Amino acid sequence: MKKERSISDRQGVSRRQVLIGAGALAASTAIMQLGGLVGSARATGGKTEKWPWPYVKLDPATTAELAYKEWYRVFCGAAVINSVVSQLREKVGEPYNSFPSDAFVFLEGGIAGWGTICGSNAGANIVSNLIIGPRIAGPECEHGQVIGADMLQWYSKNKLPVFVPKTPKQPTAIVQTVSESPLCHISVGKWMAASGYPLGSPERKDRCARVAASVAYKLVEDLNAWKDGDYEPKSEWQPGKEFGITAQPNCTECHGSDVPSAPKAKVAEK
Ligand code: HEC
Repeated sequence: MKKERSISDRQGVSRRQVLIGAGALAASTAIMQLGGLVGSARATGGKTEKWPWPYVKLDPATTAELAYKEWYRVFCGAAVINSVVSQLREKVGEPYNSFPSDAFVFLEGGIAGWGTICGSNAGANIVSNLIIGPRIAGPECEHGQVIGADMLQWYSKNKLPVFVPKTPKQPTAIVQTVSESPLCHISVGKWMAASGYPLGSPERKDRCARVAASVAYKLVEDLNAWKDGDYEPKSEWQPGKEFGITAQPNCTECHGSDVPSAPKAKVAEK
């Protein structure tokens, strides 16, 4: 295990502040406000968050194997997060040691089984924004969100899963499907329709573990390119500007030929 100086040594932030930067901000702000310590809450707020977090390039295949294995412990979202964070704990230390990856088990099943965003996509977005920073932290941090958004497009447009683990838990051939959507419900639904396997089957579970691994592989490829200064943004999807509503691109798949238009002008007048 390589011993490097942690971010707190280098940047003079206390371990407690690193924890706040690591995502406990909302909770600790609330606690401090309750205690009448609004001033100190402000002093330890956004301004002490340092971006980007120290990143060393990782091996995509190793990361994907980790994600595959972790899926069977913590499911898609936390598996993608842990596949990167666990390696950076080894190679970097803080702030990754304090990042509570297992807290993200709730991303499973598109957040607590509601079939919203696939946890693998959510996990990849969390990791890229965690490492590079949120876009509000300045132009150099925008890539965190861009890599996350590009992942939604890649996930929607490609046959998944692409990653085949060295020792699959399910030797059965896993059919690949294109979801045309970053949503769990649609992605899993199209796969179940194509494969004939139900939600509770070992095949469906292995498919989702391989999808998480595929996303982790791609995520690390993208983070490595960003680290080298070579990351090329791929998606320019801005539905709010274009259609006046948040959406995924394939409007007609759900609306048929009669895609409603959003009340753009009314919103703008307010
Ligand atoms: C995953 C399925 C899905 C996709 C893809 C989708 N929508 Fe929707 N959309 C819905 C549903 C469901 C509603 C709520 C019911 C309704 O109004 O039809 C809705 C509501 C809307 C509404 C507001 C309600 C209304 O009827 O005026 C607008 C506007 C809209 N969609 C536009 C779009 C546009 C534009 C796109 C593509 C950029 C799009 N939608 C993509 C499912 C989808």
